[in-house]
Amino acid sequence: MSTVVIVGAQWGDEGKGKITDYLAERADVVVRYQGGANAGHTVVVGDTEYRLHLIPSGILHGKRCVIGNGVVLDPAVFLREVEYLEERGHAVDAIAVSGAAHVIMPYHKRLDELEEAGRGEDRIGTTRQGIGPAYRDKAARTGIRVEDLLDEAQFRRLLRRNLDQVNRVLERVYGVEGYDYEQVLEEYLGYAERLRPFVTDTWKLINDAIDAGQRVLFEGAQGTMLDLDHGTYPYVTSSYPTAAGACIGSGVGPTRIDQVIGVAKAYTSRVGDGPFPTELLDETGEWIRRRGHEYGTTTGRPRRCGWLDAVVLRYAARVSGMTGLAITRLDTLGGLETVRICVAYELDGRRVEDMPTGALKLARCRPVYEELPGWPADLSGLTRWEDLPAEARRYLERIAELVGVPVVLVSVGRERAQTMGLREVFVPRPR
Ligand code: IMP
Repeated sequence: MSTVVIVGAQWGDEGKGKITDYLAERADVVVRYQGGANAGHTVVVGDTEYRLHLIPSGILHGKRCVIGNGVVLDPAVFLREVEYLEERGHAVDAIAVSGAAHVIMPYHKRLDELEEAGRGEDRIGTTRQGIGPAYRDKAARTGIRVEDLLDEAQFRRLLRRNLDQVNRVLERVYGVEGYDYEQVLEEYLGYAERLRPFVTDTWKLINDAIDAGQRVLFEGAQGTMLDLDHGTYPYVTSSYPTAAGACIGSGVGPTRIDQVIGVAKAYTSRVGDGPFPTELLDETGEWIRRRGHEYGTTTGRPRRCGWLDAVVLRYAARVSGMTGLAITRLDTLGGLETVRICVAYELDGRRVEDMPTGALKLARCRPVYEELPGWPADLSGLTRWEDLPAEARRYLERIAELVGVPVVLVSVGRERAQTMGLREVFVPRPR
């Protein structure tokens, strides 16, 4: 048996979809454990580009794919992806959805928009997919779970109760129209019937797979710095992208996790608001954005770009107990004469090596850089560590040194074949 958790080590969009795709080929089961349709994975297979928001990209390898209890499921998005995959010839009967996952309702999205608009300068830059309001309902115990949606009487009761409340808020607080009960009911009961065949006790499915000696891959969405507790609160998402989230969001104990792989770009990007110490607001930032096509998969927004931040990575490695790093987009950074890595911050006149707690402090941090020689622009066709330019190898070695975690995977392009595996990842942890 061997289990691997994939965690975003930065602010999301690190290329987790590609690394998941690479590791999924070697796995038996792939589990998505948190977030919702706010995530976006792009995987390129041959000439086809796949864009998925909810269903784990392991489906492209025909693997058992699980949407765990920690996910907030938008049934419309899920069913659209099922259709999208079927149209492209992929079997979808390998997908399992937890009955304990919460359902995104239309009012969650509406409230997400209205609340964000009302935040003014304090806006978070959410994806407006209803993520925050859905997790809020979950914590407040007023959420509707997939199992409730499948039980018509229960769904009718919960929907009526919630709309009574939500419509009052929409009408009286925001002065907008509320939702029609019958209309939402009809729409969602339609989803329920199509969703039913996928729903099962996923906690059992996953634990049984581990007991049977299978390889299970847990796929995180977003990234460490967007974690509700460990990220730059309040500029975060409402779930737990860090490794512990894999346990909560799937029903697997921490003693059963073997490896935690942190995925990081060779530079940093962030979409949405909040502090970002190494952000480049100059030509180099624009150069990275253009060269890396740094525009959001879900929202199309231009991503903020900057140098690699080793303080962020060191922190991410520690809060998730990372055992390996996967560095993506090494090719994007190619062609620069020199590259920089942020090795520490200057905070209120003092040098700090560790991530301070809180967005306010991080916003006052100034990066302390180390400069390294750059490498040539074209890395395509390179498939072995030995083939990489010496400067690129030096860069990767320096990252591993600064973070204290070995680099186990390197991606140098969009294609499946452009991922170098430097070490075996599915290895049981000595117990
Ligand atoms: P929410 O998850 O839509 O509530 O958005 C909260 C914050 O997380 C915003 O800054 C979003 O831009 C960011 N975010 C959410 N999902 C992703 C993602 O998949 N990649 C990058 N940023 C994300």
